[in-house]
Amino acid sequence: MAGPTQSGGGNVKVWRNARLATFAENLTGMGIAEKGAVAARDGRIAYAGPEAELPNEFLKSETVDCEGRWITPGLIDCHTHLVYAGNRANEFEMRLAGASYEEVARAGGGIVSSVKSLRAASEDDLVRESTPRLRALMAEGVTTVEIKSGYGLDLQSESKALRAARRLGHEKPVTVRTTFLGAHALPPEANGDKDAYIAKVVDEMLPAIVAEGLADAVDGFCEGIAFSPEQIARVFDKARALGLPVKLHADQLSDLGGAALAAGYGGLSADHLEYTNEDGARAMAQAGTVAVMLPGAYYFIRETKKPPVDLFRKHGVRLALATDSNPGTSPLTSLLLTINMGATLFSMTVEECLTGVTRNAAHALGLSGEIGTLETGKWADLAIWDIERPAELVYRMGFNPLHARIWRGQ
Ligand code: NIG
Ligand code: FE
Repeated sequence: MAGPTQSGGGNVKVWRNARLATFAENLTGMGIAEKGAVAARDGRIAYAGPEAELPNEFLKSETVDCEGRWITPGLIDCHTHLVYAGNRANEFEMRLAGASYEEVARAGGGIVSSVKSLRAASEDDLVRESTPRLRALMAEGVTTVEIKSGYGLDLQSESKALRAARRLGHEKPVTVRTTFLGAHALPPEANGDKDAYIAKVVDEMLPAIVAEGLADAVDGFCEGIAFSPEQIARVFDKARALGLPVKLHADQLSDLGGAALAAGYGGLSADHLEYTNEDGARAMAQAGTVAVMLPGAYYFIRETKKPPVDLFRKHGVRLALATDSNPGTSPLTSLLLTINMGATLFSMTVEECLTGVTRNAAHALGLSGEIGTLETGKWADLAIWDIERPAELVYRMGFNPLHARIWRGQ
């Protein structure tokens, strides 16, 4: 059948004979509906639930028979550094020879070497180099990706990276959310003066980036090899004044109280969190700050300290998982492998893993009203899977059971 039919106004399409994992907030577990159906009108979900209760108005619409396949919300990768130039396989070799991530960074490698590459690349180069990575994510049912800057570290280069990220979202059927990560590392020209660079981020870069509408959120790297809690607080104060939500690379390599800092600013998320303490977990729960865990980075830098998942559970912190796709600590472009790692490395349950790349990942982006569950009114972003049970999505390694991917009803 050609185009979608008209019914009750608007473009309507129905998926029937499916099993649904809706992840609806008010349902228990994964919100499962056996013998389910989803209807979309103008790209938004108009119905999701038991097929027997599908409203009559949809009975004559264009219909897809899902033949018993599972439908989940389109997957959400809520933490990536997907836009970068070149790669750092050379540093990987150094680390294989015994150097640590911090030693490589202090020796002038690390983030700063990606800064050199990104500054030398054009916006077109960045789009071209990043497209295969985005495609790899999309091929596994990802319909929303967050992309951070942070490899430019001057206004012109940070803006270039964020424009490339926005372009990826306009060129492909995927939602891209951008995050300004100017406070990621100290650029070489700052000559070691972190306070002066932070002043530049706050007074020059952030206002210009907001004026051009290039960022949906603001992030920072709070760490010994990056910026102190006081320096990050200056960036967050400015973000707040400009009306942007914040998130933070917190407690990845040491405990500087980053989780509590992010929560104190009502942060959407605190990310990494290997060294987070109980005060941090408590503060995150109170603020509704999502714990975004990044097992790819944990694995790739051979970290041994695991994020305190039990503390997050105890205090009722929402858990999410993301690839952290980046050239230095997580050259990973598979969200399915990421959730397998969440289960095997961090002992997360199947339900936690899948909620962590759907409903809770939407919360981590401030998009819980728009995506992340199969509920009326949200975007019709769907992933249709050739599986017998949702656990298969978490269980397999390096196999992609995606049957179809729908972004905004198409
Ligand atoms: O999320 N922790 C800081 N930022 C990245 C690593 C960036 C890099 O090494 O290029 C991360 O792990
Ligand atoms: Fe990161």
